[in-house]
Amino acid sequence: MEKNWSELSKDFDERQKYVAGEEVVNLITDKIQTLKYLGEVLELGCGNGFYTQFLIKSASHITATDISKDMVTVALEKLADYKNIKVEIKDAYKTEYESCSFDTIFMANLIHVVEHPDIMLQEAKRILKPQGRLIISTFTTYGMDEEEVEKMIERYLKAFGQPPKSGKSYTLDSLKELLGSCGFKIQEAELIGDKTKSIFIISAK
Ligand SMILES: C[S@@+](CC[C@H](N)C(=O)[O-])C[C@H]1O[C@@H](n2cnc3c(N)ncnc32)[C@H](O)[C@@H]1O
Repeated sequence: MEKNWSELSKDFDERQKYVAGEEVVNLITDKIQTLKYLGEVLELGCGNGFYTQFLIKSASHITATDISKDMVTVALEKLADYKNIKVEIKDAYKTEYESCSFDTIFMANLIHVVEHPDIMLQEAKRILKPQGRLIISTFTTYGMDEEEVEKMIERYLKAFGQPPKSGKSYTLDSLKELLGSCGFKIQEAELIGDKTKSIFIISAK
């Protein structure tokens, strides 16, 4: 069974900051704000809309989606003042959007929790326009000191309880390989953070 994220919806971003640390989260939001010309964006697994607020600075419009009704409810409240953000419930495996609809698809911390990342990536490829970009940010233990990993696991258990059974930690190479096997071409791949880490990858259809 997949983890129930709904009960964590209200303060999900605060819990995530506590687990991963403010430093890496700030580096991710800085990185997002360097992105340009995102055009028509679809965000998958948007959670309570934390990263959406930074993405919108370079997007013409964002459709922010999540499978959890409670996450979507909190995201709707958080993003209510933005006229060019729509928030919807969608399953990233089967979004039901028309093929070739979006210039950019963004997903933060979704690929490391889903059971079938390949199915989700195939769906992302279907709904991206030709040459559309897929941008993935995902926390990882790759490149972290063992002691820091142990401390982070303790914080995770306190904040989120047991991790999803399908949870995994990608390396830069394993994520690049997965994207390649689903037909994406890597444009940029970076490991962000000092004590705690996140992979940030930009790829194209
Ligand atoms: C670890 S949280 C990340 C939330 C947000 N992107 C962030 O980084 O703050 C994972 C999110 O993915 C959502 N999710 C899990 N499976 C999904 C699926 N199949 N389709 C869409 N969203 C999904 C969960 O409801 C949850 O909000």
